[in-house]
Amino acid sequence: MEFGTHTSASLHRHKTPALAVGVFDDGILSPAADIIDRADHGAIRAVIQSEFSAKVGATLVLRNLAGVAAPRVVLVGLGKQSEYSPKTHARAEQAFATYCVQAHLTEATSTLVSISCAQSTIRERARAAAAAVGEATYHYDATLGKPDVQARPKLKAFNILVERTDQSNAQRGLREGAALAEGMSLARTLGNLPGNICTPTYLGEIAKKLGREFKSIKVTVLDRKQIQALGMGSFLSVAKGSDEEPRFIVMHYKGSAPAKRASKEPAAAGPVVLVGKGITFDSGGISIKPAATMDEMKYDMCGAASVLGTLRAVAELELPGEIVGLIPTCENLLNGSANKPGDVVTSMSGLTIEILNTDAEGRLILCDALTYAERFKPSTVIDIATLTGACVVALGNVNSGLFSKDDVLADSLLAAGRQALDPVWRMPLDDAYQEQLKSNFADIANIGGPPAGAVTAACFLSRFTKAYRWAHLDIAGTAWRGGKDKGSTGRPVPLLLQFLLNQA
Ligand code: BES
Ligand code: MN
Ligand code: ZN
Repeated sequence: MEFGTHTSASLHRHKTPALAVGVFDDGILSPAADIIDRADHGAIRAVIQSEFSAKVGATLVLRNLAGVAAPRVVLVGLGKQSEYSPKTHARAEQAFATYCVQAHLTEATSTLVSISCAQSTIRERARAAAAAVGEATYHYDATLGKPDVQARPKLKAFNILVERTDQSNAQRGLREGAALAEGMSLARTLGNLPGNICTPTYLGEIAKKLGREFKSIKVTVLDRKQIQALGMGSFLSVAKGSDEEPRFIVMHYKGSAPAKRASKEPAAAGPVVLVGKGITFDSGGISIKPAATMDEMKYDMCGAASVLGTLRAVAELELPGEIVGLIPTCENLLNGSANKPGDVVTSMSGLTIEILNTDAEGRLILCDALTYAERFKPSTVIDIATLTGACVVALGNVNSGLFSKDDVLADSLLAAGRQALDPVWRMPLDDAYQEQLKSNFADIANIGGPPAGAVTAACFLSRFTKAYRWAHLDIAGTAWRGGKDKGSTGRPVPLLLQFLLNQA
């Protein structure tokens, strides 16, 4: 996708197949809509009275207006002016981009970024516009026998109109939005690919490919023997239940300049480490899952995918600072050597774990990656995992679960989530919940019983994170949608990139 900016002067003479202008409820026109309206003697005012409601995301196409160079003017509803927000803006851009895709247009121009909005800057709105276009043009056909080439989005160039003085901020925002869209698209495709294609080996190859594409990322992929040598007994106990070879992926990004911390953050040296759960298929193991929606467990590597997508965006943007991505990846299957309920395994940290339920496997692979993270002397570690069904029960598909004992880090992530329209909700992590993880036969049990399942999963991980500042994101409800529109969402790449941008 080619993103560009133009100045908003002499709008009616701007040549483009489709020009988006915003309209608020109660017949209030955005400045751009007003200019177009005047060019054709009140054409917009006339039509909104009779047949346009201006509900958020509604669109109406006006063709061949007199005195307007663009053959299509697309009215985009913005809702009530008093309630106009970054979120409304994003929804409006998405509605326009979706229209452009459905109309098979190759090129379009939006004026929506220039509509001022109290809680956001031009740069942020330009970023959101590019991200919305990325969302609307995402298309998955990798596993169709005969991909329908006609069904692929044709949109190749997207321009935004802003004032001359806003050009450089808008360009910067577009560049960030384009990188975000690329990162999300990678994460989505990896999530959507089936478990027989997107294997641990495949994820390792994707990481290596990123390493070849971006000189700023050094990639090492460890195999079963090397994982064994590290003493990752907990991770390997899950991996050995499958014929598929496990991988431990280490990605080390180094930007040119060191990151200057935002004022709220401690002046910590050391990289940010992102740890992503990479279960390429979760059958539950011997504690097997019911059949009905088990196919969805191909998405159990969306944490890993978000780490790959975020690092891709970071490298594309050449952000300052140092970022490490760690991905433990394997299948959770059941063969003759699979974990059994009651088995005790020894983690890399030395803590022994009683596996009471083999379906609580995410924490078993993450704990060893979290111990491995210590060697980078990180300033911050964030793990991202489709960890618990309980988190879906608690928060649905709106907020990701955020767990951290560090208020500053939690606040930074909450703020980044709001800014990126990729929200998280903070959940508790009181020590009192640790009681539920007591085992009669090991240092810790891998489940804590039915109450507060998302919390006890986070508590389990916390036992391996004493050496650094840490947060855990449970994305079980947000990384993909079920049902008719089943598919990967690319979340929480927007949140993670925003967090890293705010640090840079
Ligand atoms: N991958 C699942 C979590 C999950 C469930 C994600 C549903 C998305 C939708 C995880 O490995 C799992 O199975 N967790 C168990 C934990 C339980 C056994 C303590 C769960 O949530 O049921
Ligand atoms: Mn599981
Ligand atoms: Zn799982």
